[in-house]
Amino acid sequence: MADLLKLGVLISGNGSNLQSIIDNIEKGSLKAVIKIVISNNPDAYGITRAKKHDIPFAVLKSSDFKNKEDFDAKLIKILKDYGVELVILAGFMRIIAPTFLKAFSGKIMNIHPALLPSFPGLHGQRQAVEYGVKFSGCTVHFVDEGVDTGPIIIQRVVPVLDDDTEESLAARILKEEHKIYPQAIKLFADGRLEIKGRKVFIKN
Ligand code: GRF
Repeated sequence: MADLLKLGVLISGNGSNLQSIIDNIEKGSLKAVIKIVISNNPDAYGITRAKKHDIPFAVLKSSDFKNKEDFDAKLIKILKDYGVELVILAGFMRIIAPTFLKAFSGKIMNIHPALLPSFPGLHGQRQAVEYGVKFSGCTVHFVDEGVDTGPIIIQRVVPVLDDDTEESLAARILKEEHKIYPQAIKLFADGRLEIKGRKVFIKN
């Protein structure tokens, strides 16, 4: 167990990316262990997924905290207590605080449902459909102080069809998300990612 990368996965909703990480770990293609799943939404289906796989989970509701600082302090404490080495944001609908970034510098990943830097923020798929682009996709990136601005690790291109709705495009993109998130985590686990300024280099 000693050589398994210790993950903390932060979710707010369905948790299908969490599921793809669990599946890759269980089939042995990703040498990692999910030490803790944390949700800021008590009703997130991702919590049920964690339970099904006997993964420890915690629910942190913003309304239970005096302020954002206290919430983030608790989040950091839980992740540290579980010895987390890489934090995975998987549909976590909160802005990451500077204290959190400092505590896990270069060790927080996010997945976004668009080809960044296009369509950052909420509803990346809707933005792509409304803009009329012919291709969109998904991006795994390291998290920095901006919203969806950190160094890019992997991107996957997906066509946008004439009759696409936000939902149909989201479903096509999600399939690719489920492939590239585990891949990016594997590259990290294998020590193959090197961040130099804005760029991420994949060694060997
Ligand atoms: C995904 O589309 C991801 O790109 C975005 O939030 C969604 C999470 O989906 N950040 P799920 O909860 O993993 O199913």
